[in-house]
Formats: sequence, structure tokens, C-alpha cells
Amino acid sequence: MRGLRIAGGLAALCLLAATSAQAADAEALRQLVQTCGACHGADGNSPMPEVPSLAGQPKQFITTQLVMFREGRRLNPVMAALTANISNADINALGGYFAALPAMATSAPQSDGHQQAGRARAEQLNCVQCHGAALKGQQHIPRLAGQQAAYLRIQLQGFKAQTRFDMDGNMTSAAQAMTADDIELLATYLAALP
Ligand code: HEC
Ligand code: HEC
Repeated sequence: MRGLRIAGGLAALCLLAATSAQAADAEALRQLVQTCGACHGADGNSPMPEVPSLAGQPKQFITTQLVMFREGRRLNPVMAALTANISNADINALGGYFAALPAMATSAPQSDGHQQAGRARAEQLNCVQCHGAALKGQQHIPRLAGQQAAYLRIQLQGFKAQTRFDMDGNMTSAAQAMTADDIELLATYLAALP
């Protein structure tokens, strides 16, 4: 009888410990997310031209890039400092969190002609083949739809100049065919996509 009661008490204690560990994890994630939100936007949609939105990015893309910042392969002083001591579990949780947030366009569409020209160029240059028909990304390939135009411009110039980190070289080769006019057209076209 007493043995049973003790066993029941122990089981209840274990349950309590498990719940508070989960609560601690949730609180730690909430604090981390708040830090990220200061630059990337509280809802993952960036309010700053040179900071990328994270909302709606494929989880695998977010987690891969965080590891690459942490390992010093993708170079950015701010993101390097922020990821220096981050665990794989936190990276996984952050990836899941931001991937699940709804993405929004960061600028209003320009003329119909501009949108048609942007779409045509994205098809001619095969952007849609890797980034998806709706340019929303897949697996380790980022969402481009709705991304900040200034950020897109900087990254495309970086791939063309071969200074932006590129894990498999695909994006660097894709960027070689782009002229300065293409970069301008695509950056502004993509930023206005839902
Ligand atoms: C002080 C501002 C700042 C904070 C805080 C910040 N970031 Fe960043 N983050 C940036 C900037 C700027 C870039 C773009 C770096 C570049 O140009 O390569 C970036 C890039 C990224 C990227 C790459 C996205 C892409 O589209 O390539 C990811 C993922 C990311 N940050 C996640 C996070 C997470 C998760 C946090 C919170 C733990 C965080 N960031 C906190 C400024 C910040
Ligand atoms: C063969 C596949 C492929 C093609 C074609 C391709 N991309 Fe990419 N793109 C990638 C991959 C993979 C990445 C992630 C690179 C990395 O960080 O390692 C990427 C990254 C990017 C980024 C960085 C976004 C961010 O959030 O950091 C931009 C911008 C981009 N691509 C735009 C384009 C445009 C515009 C085109 C068409 C001209 C294009 N891509 C064609 C595979 C491709």
C-alpha cells in the first residue's frame, strides 16, 4: 500500500519536472525570439531594408544558415556574435518557429508591366526552377517572395562577385548571367510578391 503511494508520488514528481523543463524551454525560446525580432521583425517580417525577413522561410534553410554563421562560413559580424554559443536544439526550435510565421510582401507592387517583366526574367534565368514556381523556396533553398529589395540586391551582387557564402556553388553560377538591370528588376519584383 505504502509502496504504491510512494511510486505514485514519484511518478507525479517526474511529471512535474518534465512540465517545468518544457516551460523553461518555452521561456528560453521566447527570449531568443525576442532578440531576433529586434532586427528581423517581431512577426518575422523585417522592417529594415538590409535585414532579411525570416517568416515563411523553409525551416531547413533557416537552420542551415544559422549553422553556417556559427561555424564562420557565412560571414556577418552581427549574426556570428548571436550564434556563437547557440545550441543545435535552439537552432532547430528557431527554424521551426520562424518557418511557421506567415510571410508578407515588404513593398507594394509596381506597374503591371514591371511585374510581367520580373516574372519573365525569373523564368528565363531559371530562378523558379530552384526557388519554386511561386518563389517561396524549398528545403535548403530560400524563399524570395516578399523579401526586402535592398537585402536581395546586396545578396545578388555578392553572389555575382563571389563574396556571399554559397554552400553548393549553384547560386554563384546562377548569378553570373545577371546584369545590373536584372538584379534591379528582380529585387524589386520579388519584394512585392505575396
Ligand atoms: C542586430 C540585428 C540582428 C539580430 C538581433 C538578429 N539578426 Fe539575423 N541577420 C541580421 C542581418 C543584418 C542579416 C543579414 C546578414 C547578411 O547580410 O549576410 C541576418 C541574417 C540572418 C539569417 C539569414 C537569412 C537569409 O535570408 O539569408 C538568419 C536565418 C537569421 N539572421 C536568423 C536570426 C535569428 C534566429 C536571430 C535571433 C537568435 C537573429 N537572426 C538575430 C541581423 C540580425
Ligand atoms: C540551381 C539552383 C538555383 C538557381 C537556378 C537560382 N538559385 Fe538562388 N539560391 C539557390 C540556393 C541553393 C541558395 C542558398 C545558397 C546558400 O546560402 O548556400 C540560393 C540563394 C539565393 C538568394 C539569397 C537569399 C537569402 O535569403 O539569403 C537570392 C537572393 C537568390 N538565391 C536569388 C535567385 C535569383 C534571382 C535567381 C534567378 C536569377 C536564382 N536565385 C536562381 C539556388 C538557386
